[in-house]
Amino acid sequence: KSILLINGPNLNLLGTREPHIYGSTTLVDVENNAKEQAKSLGASLETFQSNHEGAIVDRVQAARGKVDGIIINPGAYTHTSVAIRDALLGVAIPFIELHVSNVHAREPFRHHSYFSDKAAAIIVGLGVYGYKVAVEHVAVNFKELEK
Ligand code: DQA
Repeated sequence: KSILLINGPNLNLLGTREPHIYGSTTLVDVENNAKEQAKSLGASLETFQSNHEGAIVDRVQAARGKVDGIIINPGAYTHTSVAIRDALLGVAIPFIELHVSNVHAREPFRHHSYFSDKAAAIIVGLGVYGYKVAVEHVAVNFKELEK
């Protein structure tokens, strides 16, 4: 299976940004671990991080027909981006929405997501362990595209 892991704005600061909320593991560690884990499950995984909404839209569009599942932490775009939502729906690739922190225990503006009603699954508040759960779920349980 082929998996795409997308991290949105400010997640390049993971491990150094508000570590009391997001922990101390860096994005490079998360991405390397995810790649190794996918490999051990017979899958391949590509990673993408951007602070730019349009760049994320472009990356999602480029995945059309090439990827069996997307794991996305849209960062703050979770709460604002109709464009990324539409891109995911446009390519019709099943996706998991992931948040390191428990967004429901935080400010009210983080309680609404433009992704949750369309996500195959939502992972919140597991810290970076959530990425591990997500990779396993996609690698084991998502259907392979007919190529
Ligand atoms: C986040 C939660 C968002 O509300 C926030 O804007 C982020 C990270 C998380 O992983 O917990 O940037 O998606």
